[in-house]
Amino acid sequence: MNMIFLGAPGAGKGTQAEVVCKELNIPAISTGNMLREAVKNSTEAGLKAKSYMDAGELVPDEVVIGILKDRIAQPDAQNGFILDGFPRTVQQAEALESMGVEIDKVIEIDVPDDAIIARMSGRRVCEGCGNSYHIEYKPTKVEGICDACGAKVVQRIDDKPETVLARLKTYHEKTAPLKDYYEKRGKLVTVKGQNEISETSRLTLAAIKGE
Ligand code: AP5
Repeated sequence: MNMIFLGAPGAGKGTQAEVVCKELNIPAISTGNMLREAVKNSTEAGLKAKSYMDAGELVPDEVVIGILKDRIAQPDAQNGFILDGFPRTVQQAEALESMGVEIDKVIEIDVPDDAIIARMSGRRVCEGCGNSYHIEYKPTKVEGICDACGAKVVQRIDDKPETVLARLKTYHEKTAPLKDYYEKRGKLVTVKGQNEISETSRLTLAAIKGE
């Protein structure tokens, strides 16, 4: 099954993608994680992306589409995948269509802006493997150390409150129109994000199974 997880920054797309990809045994493909990796390794794409990411703006379509195209051509993506954070513009959705990629479902995780702002200040991410935690809702077992790989967990540069506001504005202007785009194609299912991560996972899996 090919799916898109759509939602505002911090709505919980990455958290749910981690859960669902284990359950369905398909990869979760996060353009945000791939771009952060590219920045870390100072690749050509990373050098182009960094200033946009730090400001909470979208990286130009041609950079992201190129990265995504290479990733979904990999062998592990041939039996289905979750796209976490792609597409983010109507142009990116059209590019996906023109690559011949069939999308079965678009799961929108819907969380109000005020809840997002409160959540983001507590998010911490692993410098090594990119796993995401929250100091209150999903803490690491040992403070400051990733459960999965043992590397340091830190606050993302773009999780500063002023950048979170910029990311939300970008989301409403550029990405939210995709709800309409996929609704018209009969693909959109909305899950109301809950305060409990496990409850959101239960609703997300039910939406995927069409329950
Ligand atoms: P990206 O990494 O995709 O960031 P984002 O969409 O802003 O998404 P987040 O990772 O912030 O949020 P999420 O919904 O995954 O939330 P999470 O599960 O972590 O992109 C970063 C940047 O890269 C963009 O700004 C842009 O510049 C660029 N970029 C990426 N893709 C692009 C594209 N396609 N085109 C152009 N540019 C692109 O949850 C957030 C926190 O809340 C966590 O701490 C989590 O533990 C906690 N939490 C989650 N669920 C719950 C819950 N139910 N209750 C309580 N806490 C919860």
